[in-house]
Amino acid sequence: MGEIVTILSQKGGVGKTTTAVNLSASLALLNQKILLIDLDPQGHISASFGYAKYDIKGSIDEAIFESKDIMDLIHKTPIDNFDFIPYVNEIGDREHDCFIAPLNEAKLKKILSGLKSHYDFIFIDNPPTLNNITSHALIASDSVLVPIQCEFYALKALGSLLKEIKIIKTNYNPDLSYRGFLLTMVDLRNNLSKRVVTKVRQTLKELVYETMIPRNIRLAEVPYYGKPAYYIDKSAKGSTSYLDLAREFLSQNGTIASKLATNKHLSDVSRMAN
Ligand SMILES: Nc1ncnc2c1ncn2[C@@H]1O[C@H](COP(=O)(O)OP(=O)(O)OP(=O)(O)O)[C@@H](O)[C@H]1O
Ligand SMILES: [Mg+2]
Repeated sequence: MGEIVTILSQKGGVGKTTTAVNLSASLALLNQKILLIDLDPQGHISASFGYAKYDIKGSIDEAIFESKDIMDLIHKTPIDNFDFIPYVNEIGDREHDCFIAPLNEAKLKKILSGLKSHYDFIFIDNPPTLNNITSHALIASDSVLVPIQCEFYALKALGSLLKEIKIIKTNYNPDLSYRGFLLTMVDLRNNLSKRVVTKVRQTLKELVYETMIPRNIRLAEVPYYGKPAYYIDKSAKGSTSYLDLAREFLSQNGTIASKLATNKHLSDVSRMAN
């Protein structure tokens, strides 16, 4: 059975979509069967594959709002083992109405449950907010991966994020666990970046991936070329770092997830950030 991993941070621009696309592509290279679902009305996943906003048909909101069969919304990427479902937000704020569906109906979880036998991993890319959409994503998921952009306020947003995850875990999804925290846009030539890495590692300890994602132009170029960084330049630091992350991710085997679920550092961070 596949694992559903939600990529979540309410902070904008921290590397959620970049991680979703490039980690997925790297896992696919390592022979894992991957589905990436865009749950962000900004629709950045389809842009990462070169589609203009309304160029693509078949969108996750059709399963949510119109009860379309999810299997009919799956698109192939040009990469073996890697499929995706876009979000084409044609009717402005419609997502807010849809997700008013009570959380205990677990609508998204029901929609996705039939897909788990078809994939090794199903990733969900989320919008930069904590709302009904992200709550449904957490309810539908087995685990959460949190990108942390390497900047001065890196830990500040974590308090409310961890609190939200705890609420969902307590009330709707007791099996939800952490897949870990990922440092993104790291630039070790700069002293601030170095200090942030040290601080995040001191605070979250083994909860942070060893692999760090450097600030790298190839990663920023993904939407420009319409393909994951590996397929732009496989030797670029951005590409190799996501491949390293994929190997580390596969080597976790659920062990970090269970450690994370009980780790006292999480409550320390919550307290610190509140
Ligand atoms: N490691 C990196 N090096 C250089 N640029 C990066 C890196 N990671 C992401 N970027 C760029 O930074 C911007 C924000 O990244 P991304 O879109 O992945 O963040 P996000 O968290 O998904 O944003 P949003 O919250 O708006 O959905 C994008 O322009 C992206 O191309
Ligand atoms: Mg995004």
